Amino acid sequence: MESKIKTLQDKIAQAKLGGGEKRIEKQHQKKKLTARERVEYLLDEGSFEEIGILVTHRTTDFNMDKEIYYGDGVVTGYGTVNGRLIYIFAQDFTVFGGALSETHAEKICKVMDMAVQVGAPIIGLNDSGGARIQEGVRSLGGYADIFYKNVQASGVIPQISAIMGPCAGGAVYSPAMTDFTMMVEETSYMFVTGPNVVKTVTNEEVTSEELGGASTHSTKSGVAHITSANDVECLEDIKKLLSYLPQSNKELPKKIEYTLQDEVRESLSSIVPDNPNKPYDMHEVIGGIIDTDSFYEIHKDYAENIIVGFARLGGRSIGIVANQPQFLAGVLDVNSSKKAARFTRFCDCFNIPLLVLVDVPGFLPGTDQEWNGIIVHGAKLLYALSEATVPKVTVITRKAYGGAYDVMNSKHIGADLNFAWPSAEIAVMGAKGASEIIFRREIQAAPDPEAKLAEKEAEYAEKFANPYRAAQRGFIDEVILPKDTRRKLIKGFSMLENKTVNRPDRKHGNIPL
Ligand code: COA
Repeated sequence: MESKIKTLQDKIAQAKLGGGEKRIEKQHQKKKLTARERVEYLLDEGSFEEIGILVTHRTTDFNMDKEIYYGDGVVTGYGTVNGRLIYIFAQDFTVFGGALSETHAEKICKVMDMAVQVGAPIIGLNDSGGARIQEGVRSLGGYADIFYKNVQASGVIPQISAIMGPCAGGAVYSPAMTDFTMMVEETSYMFVTGPNVVKTVTNEEVTSEELGGASTHSTKSGVAHITSANDVECLEDIKKLLSYLPQSNKELPKKIEYTLQDEVRESLSSIVPDNPNKPYDMHEVIGGIIDTDSFYEIHKDYAENIIVGFARLGGRSIGIVANQPQFLAGVLDVNSSKKAARFTRFCDCFNIPLLVLVDVPGFLPGTDQEWNGIIVHGAKLLYALSEATVPKVTVITRKAYGGAYDVMNSKHIGADLNFAWPSAEIAVMGAKGASEIIFRREIQAAPDPEAKLAEKEAEYAEKFANPYRAAQRGFIDEVILPKDTRRKLIKGFSMLENKTVNRPDRKHGNIPL
């Protein structure tokens, strides 16, 4: 027995060395942790249980039968993060550059299946040279198996991808189908085709970092939801993100113990400037409403005219979608609509109530927007908010103009509670633009057209640049003092906790993609 135990111990020790000391050293030189170090850091101490540590590939081509590593380039298993079960796979770059083989894919699929059946999040730590070149189509089949499972798991369990090294070619499509893609700055990149192919096909000269680094994907493409300075920060970000989420679509997010305090927040009264054309930072409004320091922003540097993120209100997880008047005056455009729509759908999948803060002058005009399909992309947000059945609460802080009023969680598309501050202006458009159109002839005929415009503008503003018409119709449930917003929202979300909505049977809706 002793020698048998020794055999097992040797195999495990060998497995834990991955591709060997030299390659581990190389990984560290690149300022990257190894797969095992990442798993170790992310999971609660001693909680990780590995599955498939002794799996090896089955390839014999290109002398591969002489190059066998236990685990086959991916560490898979389960454990806990802050006491809650999660499943994980971490690609091991020290083994064939983390390249994905048929067996490597089978290991990932195994933990994905368990995660869905048990109902717990799956976390993928990606660090891979892509398809195992020596295996050809078997490796490609492995990718497709994972993609298929990503789709089956979508909306059932939270799926989080961290890109902590290369992720190229077909490999990008698994992260793209998960709920969140996090990237480590400078050591990770994602692209469908790399710089060499780009040069050959389009003659563009571009580095890996420019083409698909963390900064590119967090600012230009929106592929990355969160970026982190290094591996450790990225793993901390995963822990933080998980803290707002439920285990699966069958559960509510975990409510943390919270003693209600300072519900009346005077600071909210002085954020919105008197001049409606002056910007302000909606983050201040968010900070003034939620539990102290509980905001976790998603897509922070992408489409900054809308803010999305998770927060806590009286200890409850909520998702926030908020126009940002400080950036492009808070207009809706193609990218902000897509960003907010996807976030809304995530929250709805996982029973996270939605708070929508509105200060929107409308949709961004221009050929660029129209030719890039603002009609269909704006419709995504309208569709997503209309479709969501979680508790939905709106606060209009200032402008709610035109079609954007409808889109931003209006009463008409199913919001449960609609509040407005006294500074709200709910109208088809701003008073100046409106007066120029409807009083054009009168203004032109006046001896002093400018004075006439000012007079008409004041008349229009008096009638419509306020929340009271909407309140008279019941489109606004209550006009509230800014300082009471937090209190009203805590009570409102608590009242809505058991909300249920029954929709007619259908296979699925047809969101304008
Ligand atoms: N299949 C099999 N082995 C691979 C691999 C792949 N797709 N990608 C990398 N490897 C191996 C390398 O042969 C090398 O092996 P070694 O340690 O025995 O020398 C090891 O992984 C590390 O790769 P290396 O090229 O030395 O690392 P790097 O950091 O300099 O470069 C990449 C990383 C990913 C840029 C580079 O390896 C690469 O371009 N790989 C191919 C990417 C690709 O085209 N994949 C297929 C399409 S999806």
